[in-house]
Order: sequence, then C-alpha cells, then structure tokens
Amino acid sequence: MQNKGFPTEWLSELKRKSDLVSIASNYVRLQQKGQRYWACCPFHSEKTPSFSINAEEGIYYCFGCKESGDVIKFVEKMENLDFWDAVKLLAEKAGMELPELQSTSTIKGDKELKSRVLLALDYAYKHYMENLYNKDAKVAQDYIKLRKFTRRELEDFKIGYSKNWTDIVDYLKGKGFTEKELLESGICGKKNNHLYDFIGERLVFPIFNSFGECIGFSARALEKTDFAKYKNTAETIVFQKGRVVFGINLLKAQKQQQLLDKIILVEGQMDVIAMHKAGFKCTVACMGTALTQDHIKELLRYNENIYLCFDGDGAGTKATLRAIDMFRNYNCNLKVIKLEGGKDPDEVLNNLGKERLQEMINNAKPYMEFLIEHYKNQFDLNVPEQKNKFVRIILAEIGKLGSGTLYEPYLEIVRDLTKIPLDILRRDVNNADTMPKQSEVVLDKTPQIQRGDEKAAKFILASLLHKKGYVLPNIDYEKLLEGYENYLEIINKNLPLSSIFDIEGASEDGFLMDIVNFNFTVFEGDEERYFKECLWKIAEQDLKKLQSKLNEEYKNCEDLEKRSEIAKHLGKIALQLKNKSLEEFNGRR
Ligand code: UTP
Ligand code: MN
Repeated sequence: MQNKGFPTEWLSELKRKSDLVSIASNYVRLQQKGQRYWACCPFHSEKTPSFSINAEEGIYYCFGCKESGDVIKFVEKMENLDFWDAVKLLAEKAGMELPELQSTSTIKGDKELKSRVLLALDYAYKHYMENLYNKDAKVAQDYIKLRKFTRRELEDFKIGYSKNWTDIVDYLKGKGFTEKELLESGICGKKNNHLYDFIGERLVFPIFNSFGECIGFSARALEKTDFAKYKNTAETIVFQKGRVVFGINLLKAQKQQQLLDKIILVEGQMDVIAMHKAGFKCTVACMGTALTQDHIKELLRYNENIYLCFDGDGAGTKATLRAIDMFRNYNCNLKVIKLEGGKDPDEVLNNLGKERLQEMINNAKPYMEFLIEHYKNQFDLNVPEQKNKFVRIILAEIGKLGSGTLYEPYLEIVRDLTKIPLDILRRDVNNADTMPKQSEVVLDKTPQIQRGDEKAAKFILASLLHKKGYVLPNIDYEKLLEGYENYLEIINKNLPLSSIFDIEGASEDGFLMDIVNFNFTVFEGDEERYFKECLWKIAEQDLKKLQSKLNEEYKNCEDLEKRSEIAKHLGKIALQLKNKSLEEFNGRR
C-alpha cells in the first residue's frame, strides 16, 4: 500500500513542513558543504562524517552504512517509533491535524496485535526457563551438562525447555491469550483443530531483538531425530528472519559499556554461547538463514570491525565468500578467522581452549588475503594457464577495492606468488576495469561501486531518475533494461524523491536506494561519456545474443530466400557492433 494509509497530499505537506535539516540537527552536529549537510552517522559508529542530507529533496543517506530515508524514517529510527507514531510526532510539531486514515482500523489492529504477540512471547520464554529446572526436565538437564553450559550461560541466554506439546498452550491460554494471538506469535501450530507447541520437546533458545524483547525461538532436538536438528519460529509480524541477529541484545550491552572493539560473526547459536562463555562477548550469529543486507546494516551500527568465523567445511567457505561479496560494498574492516582443531568455534574451544582461539582471532586476515589464499589453493601456479586464470581472478578481486593505494599490498603478495613484476600487475589491475575510478577526494568513505552490468544499469536508472541533462531521449529504455521494469515504472511516475520512501518496501530495496541516493560526484564531469558507455555495455550484450541466435538460425535454415534475409540482418548487426550503434534500441519516449 502506498502512503501507509495517509492521503498523499497530506503526507507531502507534512514533509514540506518538517524540515529534515533542522530536525536532524537535534540529534547530530551538521556541517554544510555545498548543497549537502554532513555529520557523523547516527546509525553506525564512525569518526569521519559519511551521513549526508540533501536539504532540497528532504532525504538523507549514509555513504558508510547506506541507511537512507526521508524525515519520517529518520524520526522512526532515532526515536524507535513505528511509521504511524513518527507521523504523529511530526504532525504535532508542524501543527497539523491528523487526517482520516484510509485504513485506520487495520493499522490500529496491527499495532495491538503486535503488542499482544510480544507479551505472549515474553510469558512463553520465561515459562520455558522455569521448566528447565523442574525434575521432569532430566533429558534437558543432561544435555546442558553435556554441552558444559554453566548457570551464567543459562541466565545470559535465557535458555529454556519445552517439555511437551501442550504445556505452553495451556499456560498461555490461562493467561488470557486467544488462539489467534498464539498462532500469530509463532509459538503454536495447529493440527486437527488443536493447538500444539511448535517447538515441543526441545531445548529452547529465545531470540531477542536489540531492545531485549523476545521475538521468537530457535529450539534444538535433544535426541537424534529424523526431523531438523534446529527448529526456528516461522516468519511473524515481529520475527523477520532476514533481520534477526542472535545475540544482538548482548552485543548492544557490550557497546553501551564501551567494551566493543569488533564483532565476530559465527554460524550457529551454540557457537555464540560457547564464545561468550570463553569471554568473546562480541560474538553473534545470523541463524540458519543466509546473510542479508539488513543483517549487515544492523551489525555496522555497532562496529565496523567485522570478523567472519564460519565453519571450516565447504559450506562455511561458501558462506564466507558470499559474506565477503556483500560486506565489501560497505565501509568496514572485514577480516576472516581461520579455524583449526574443530569444525566450528564451539568445537575449537572444546578441543584447544580459549587461548588458542584468541591466537586465531589475532591472526585473522584481511578478507583480500583470504581470497588470495582461497584461489591460490584452487590452481596449480606452476602450470602457465592455471597461473593466468588465477591472476585474472585475483586482479579482478583486487580491482574491486576501487583505489590504487589499496591495491599495493595485495599486488605484492600476488607478485611473490607468481613472480610477475609489480608494474605489469599494476597495469593489468587497471585494465581489468575500464569504468571510472571512484574519487578519493569526495569522502574517505564512499561506498564501493558495483561492477558489471548491474553497475551499468544502475547508473542509467539513476541518471533517468535524477533527470540528468545528458540522458538520451530517443532510446527505448524498457527494451534496453529488461528485468528492471519495476524501477522504470517508479521513475516514470515522476515522484519527488522523498515520496519514493512512501512506497511499501522501498527502503528495503537496496538497489532502489542506491539509485535514489546515487553519488554522481565521483564521476567528476565524466557523466555523459560514462552514460554512453553504460548504454553500450548493455546494448552490446543484447546484440551479441541476437547475433548468435541468428547464426544458429542461418545454419539450420534451408529456405534460400530466408537465408539471405538472415544474412542481411546479420550484416546489419555486425555493422552496429562495429560502430557501437544503438539504433536497435531506438524507440518511444
Ligand atoms: P550447525 O548444524 O552447524 O549447528 O548449524 P551447531 O551450532 O554446530 O549445532 P550443534 O553444535 O550441533 O548443536 C548452524 C546453524 O544453522 C541453523 C541453526 O541456527 C544453527 O545454529 N540450523 C541448523 C537450522 O536452522 N536448522 C537445522 O536443522 C540445522
Ligand atoms: Mn556445533
């Protein structure tokens, strides 16, 4: 739903009257530079300003953590309010009366349900905790001993036990919760018209958000089972898997005591607990689901030194590579810990103890060194073709660092491995990327720019959205940018930028946010040339695809007349490819 129930006109007026610059200045110290205002970002920790406000559009963007939004979102975040309450607060300030909502009842209903669900979860985890100490909890208590949890871990993590399939249902019904509330909270499932405990007969790990509210559970089977070893709460109105970080409440406490110098990211909650027990209290996990942009943003709010510590198996390596690919688009100091003596941190601690794990943490490598090591092991550098492949892959990775001064230490490592002279590596790493280099003068914290076609599409879409003068009017962008229709549709609406944030889900769409907040300054007047390059980059691929399709048709065609027609078309395409002609994409607009 657009505008979340508020009339568009009213919302626009509220935004006009709520000056982002003056509201933000209550929270951060702003400095004006040109058309933008800058400050140290209130959403992640940093010492040099990457948070900027575009006063004219009324939107903000952090080049470090990529948080962005309009004045409403800013207030939501700073005051920890939901959309509705943030609007209420701003309306009060602006002296505007709240309008009739287009769907007041559902919004109000949602709010009430949410607080009931949180209350049910609160009762539930405390009840599970009590259950763990009863005498009918022997299986669970034995397991606790086996895993060597002490009283301290049980209390810090509020570990509990669900003894059977009905106890929690009866308990919560007794507290006055309705069937709907129990189902919505994810605590219960329903079968044959009966409610049952979704995590019956398991050891229970409550999951807390950063405010210390229980939002769901992860529960481990206590005996060998054909079912999943862990069962996690399904998605609910308070539990969104792509956002959940196990241990975030404890991480926040560390930060508040100024004890946080890094974050260690592990795979499982058992690892988090074992790490805490050993004194590594800066450890969290993303729980079963793959790492998301939301996880990353959440983590970077607390600290910029991120240490990946995934399992030492193939799956762990794959997860590490994927995490690197995501984290490197943010400004952070990303390192990888290499585990020895066990498959996960829990085992390593059990087998070798915390001093040895501390050493592994001290020896953590910058992610680029991890990548070099990883690819080195995949190729035999004594075989010339394999060595070439290795060099090509690794130079592309190094090129993604985006700045020559950052390449140097890694190029030296590659030189030592391959005996290829430094100046040749330097030249090749530059040639690996014909796109303009990001400028180092704009900010010490500009985000990495993505490469490849997505990068080209992003630049084109950003230019369209920001109505740049160099945009070629006679191109059929729908045809050229297949797969990006959603974004073109939004662009064609001609909304003011701040209204884009009113579209449901907009601020969760990282690609869209990148377009809205696109930083053109890094192109330093080269935008027009680059725009054409991007158009051609995509067009060329399409033409080549068409070319090979036609070639295929030509080979299989027996009709002479048709053959000559195809040949003619092929000739035309060859010419277009040679002349970099975009005529194939001419069209409306
Ligand atoms: P692991 O299987 O590595 O768990 O899964 P672990 O932490 O080593 O568990 P123990 O030591 O055997 O008890 C890592 C994480 O993946 C998720 C859980 O979040 C787990 O912590 N997972 C795993 C599931 O969600 N479901 C499963 O069936 C298994
Ligand atoms: Mn384990």
